[in-house]
Amino acid sequence: MNVKTLGPSTLASQLLVASLLYAGTVNAAVTEADAMKITSQYGCQACHATSTKLVGPAFKDIAKKYAGDKTAEERLQKKVKSGGSGVWGTLPMPPAVGASDADVATVVHWILSLT
Ligand code: HEC
Repeated sequence: MNVKTLGPSTLASQLLVASLLYAGTVNAAVTEADAMKITSQYGCQACHATSTKLVGPAFKDIAKKYAGDKTAEERLQKKVKSGGSGVWGTLPMPPAVGASDADVATVVHWILSLT
């Protein structure tokens, strides 16, 4: 086999494997920039900030509240998708209409990773 043809195709298949692995563990490393893109796209920032309470709780306070709670990630994904009230007060959060499961999973993972 000729090294010139082996090189690029091996690289391409490694990149493919890497991107498939990344898609399977999309939550492994969510950057703040990824999260901010999503919170801006879906209007979360109208009611939430990272460190300050606005209409809704600060993302850091949410992380604190659920620290060590292994079921929180899934519950909060559902809560963001369907909205609700009663955990932080009487003000309701509206459902995140049009947000994909992947985006919701990404942003909730990022919120819970804050300290
Ligand atoms: C109109 C204002 C508003 C918008 C827009 C909004 N939220 Fe909220 N959010 C709230 C309020 C109010 C609460 C507190 C709800 C409660 O007390 O149960 C909350 C709570 C939360 C919680 C904690 C839920 C719990 O049960 O502890 C998370 C996580 C959250 N919001 C994420 C998001 C994300 C992500 C978005 C964007 C997709 C978003 N929010 C958009 C107002 C909003």
